[in-house]
Amino acid sequence: MKFAVALSLVAVCCHAATVKHERRFPDDFIFGCATAAYQIEGAWNEDGKGENIWDYMTHNNPTVIVDQSNGDVAADSYHNVERDVEMMRELGLDAYRFSLSWSRILPTGFANEVNQAGINYYNNLINEMLKYNIQPLVTLYHWDLPQRLQELGGFANPLIADWFEDYARVVFENFGDRVKLWITFNEPREICYEGYGSNTKAPILNATGVGTYLCAKHLVIAHAKAYYLYNNEFKASQGGECGITISVNWFGPLTDSEEDEFAAELRRQAEWGLYAEPIFSAEGGFPKELAARVAEKSAQQGYPWSRMPEFTEEEKNFVRGASDFFGVNHYTGLLISATEHMQQHPVPSLLDDIGVGSYVPPEWLQSASPWLTLSPNSIYNALTHLARKYNNPVFYITENGWSNTPSTGLQDDDRISYYRASFESMLNTLEAGVNLKGYMTWSLMDNFEWLLGYTELFGLYEVDFNSPERTRTPRKSAFVYKEMLRTRTIDY
Ligand code: NOJ
Repeated sequence: MKFAVALSLVAVCCHAATVKHERRFPDDFIFGCATAAYQIEGAWNEDGKGENIWDYMTHNNPTVIVDQSNGDVAADSYHNVERDVEMMRELGLDAYRFSLSWSRILPTGFANEVNQAGINYYNNLINEMLKYNIQPLVTLYHWDLPQRLQELGGFANPLIADWFEDYARVVFENFGDRVKLWITFNEPREICYEGYGSNTKAPILNATGVGTYLCAKHLVIAHAKAYYLYNNEFKASQGGECGITISVNWFGPLTDSEEDEFAAELRRQAEWGLYAEPIFSAEGGFPKELAARVAEKSAQQGYPWSRMPEFTEEEKNFVRGASDFFGVNHYTGLLISATEHMQQHPVPSLLDDIGVGSYVPPEWLQSASPWLTLSPNSIYNALTHLARKYNNPVFYITENGWSNTPSTGLQDDDRISYYRASFESMLNTLEAGVNLKGYMTWSLMDNFEWLLGYTELFGLYEVDFNSPERTRTPRKSAFVYKEMLRTRTIDY
């Protein structure tokens, strides 16, 4: 398909504000909500589940979580399958994206011992969803590595690719007859940079400058192994698709100077290019300008090698093209400047290697999370950019959401403004010819927000974390989403 961004830019800006005009999502566009195992399931040690890195960290180092909470019970979804599916029905979802807990299925991480109770839990969930035609979109890994594998190096050990492939085989064998959309990894940047290169996600390794790149290489190879396993051994009989989800926020230049444009490009390479380029670009391998920058800095710092490892030609070719679709988690945007010491927005970043500043205009609506503002038309900006760069693959937005504080309660008007802006931006994106096929909000329900515990909440449904039943109540935004889903329309 010819990709017509320039043309449709004209079309988008020419919708005169005065024209009352209805724009619709296609009937086969998939709308859903997303969650992740550690953030909602609870039952951390029930029925044979093994320990994972979040269990380990929250139990042994509780002060790293702002409210010293953990996911031991969370929203207790392990015991709430029917209610969770009932919420999906209340909303009228086409799909629900959830993740599998590796250590609930393989308690030590290795495939020699399968925990049947874990398989049963996910079977019940999938079967209950399918009763009501709600399509499962399943993530194999959403940050909860079995602790045993972490002790053996986790993503710093190249063998992670084989361990992940073994796990993927168990998963495809058990659920692939009913699951047709697979996501191998959720947000490699957060796994690698936040978990290995800094200290904002488990295992808080903080191996600055080295951990991120080592993890990135092993992770994309692990992804490709699972992808080819599915492609070669399961796809013909099961007929599904397998992709990866990368966090793609929009990093645009603050001014149109060449310096700011280059700074924004470096930032994009560091944030998402590191993971997207090896899989989706025509040449494969890590992004070139970033690789050159890291090599140069490594030499200045006295390393005998670049802190960014290289791919062999064989690895490069293996990873290149290994995805049926591009899953995008999109939340926000930042304006990037080449001036290093301008206002720093508190987003963890790879500033040490790329040395650029970022800026958020004060008029952008601010959520309860310091990093999350309503950045105008940023879905369009991010996806048209990716589509141009990577020859317009199939995209799914696998997360998009807004946080409030616990005191907001059910009247979440800011979230509604945010979602309305997202729907408009998606319609702009579709009109530009981007191959976007579906959209999941984050999140179906309130959940454990990692180091922020239960202080920042993203749910369309509020969860009462003080009630033993973890009662779920729809917020105002749930009704708005439901209505949009029913009509596939937003009014102008
Ligand atoms: C993306 C992550 O995938 C999810 O786990 C997290 O809760 C949301 N962002 C909000 O921060």
